[in-house]
Amino acid sequence: MAKNMTGDGKAKVLEALNKARSMELFAIHQYMNQHYNVDNMDYGELAAQVKLIAIDEMRHAEQFADRIEDLGGEPTSELAAAVVKGQDIGAVFVFNANLEDDTIATYNQLLHVCRENGDSTSMKLFESIIDEEQEHFTYFDNIKEHIQNLNGAYLAKIAGTPSSTGLQPQGFVIRKAAGTTTGA
Ligand SMILES: [Fe+2]
Ligand SMILES: [Fe+2]
Repeated sequence: MAKNMTGDGKAKVLEALNKARSMELFAIHQYMNQHYNVDNMDYGELAAQVKLIAIDEMRHAEQFADRIEDLGGEPTSELAAAVVKGQDIGAVFVFNANLEDDTIATYNQLLHVCRENGDSTSMKLFESIIDEEQEHFTYFDNIKEHIQNLNGAYLAKIAGTPSSTGLQPQGFVIRKAAGTTTGA
């Protein structure tokens, strides 16, 4: 627990971290909803990338929660917004590029709150996550432009590609079956 922060400063940092966590929780749900839709539309490769980005957001939500716990706060389970459903393929990538762009702008403001209140650890966490959001933005923005500029040609190339992420399943049951934990 950071003893160098005042109670007021810590409350502001916790508010910033929880705001970011709620944005991550929204992104996870939004991207997983899109993952299934895009897969149903048969654009497998795009569905796989959206799922992998959702997994990045899960890691971010957990990183923010860890820092909130370290500061003695309670990680929120609220989503920052309601999931938007039924987007067509073009709308998905416009929406996501905007979302990542807004997230980067907001996280830069929240990083400033951490700096003002003397929490360099949280500041560094925001810095590292902003770098990853920048990669998400670049990907979504590129796909958005391919879809807009190449009309149907880009999507025709993607249609029918596999949606597998290549990730091995993980979790309690899988690990138990592998014998690496007793599960007792
Ligand atoms: Fe994120
Ligand atoms: Fe992101």
